[in-house]
Amino acid sequence: MSIWVYPGSFDPITLGHENIIERGARLCDTLYVAVLDNPNKSPLFSTDEKIELIKKCTSHIPNVVVECFNGLLVDYVKDINANVILRGIRNVGDYEYEQNMSVLNKKLNENADTVFICADPEFRCISSSSVKEIAMLGGDFSGLVNENIFNEINNQITRRK
Ligand code: PNS
Repeated sequence: MSIWVYPGSFDPITLGHENIIERGARLCDTLYVAVLDNPNKSPLFSTDEKIELIKKCTSHIPNVVVECFNGLLVDYVKDINANVILRGIRNVGDYEYEQNMSVLNKKLNENADTVFICADPEFRCISSSSVKEIAMLGGDFSGLVNENIFNEINNQITRRK
């Protein structure tokens, strides 16, 4: 039984995240999409809201479970008996950051191996922060997020302005 974890901030989930989730879910039995519940950050969406948005974008994938975690990722990995941490890579900058994190996670938990999936080219320019910035400045971000959650992001941005 292969259980993989795809952790992240997901503030909000983008089409780039969805690309990694869809491809990762094909490679394992169960893919946990794990939202970091970090009270020190001031995100656009609450953890519960992020989970709802992710569920709306991934309801077509039967082996995806969406949860939150707090504390160390490696402890969560152990709690759910996962074999692999999944991370997406868009560019060299991502790679440098991600390879450090994977080495540290491995040091903290010998069983926590990381698998990287390179984002498909059309998604490599997308990040949650660019979605938020474009939305905040009144730009069209419809090609960057799932159409099922476009209005919710727009409404949240309007409330925050
Ligand atoms: O989407 P992000 O913000 O790039 O995700 C980063 C995340 C949540 C995967 C990372 O910050 C994380 O794992 N945080 C949990 C705390 C932890 O385990 N830190 C040690 C990492 S070496």
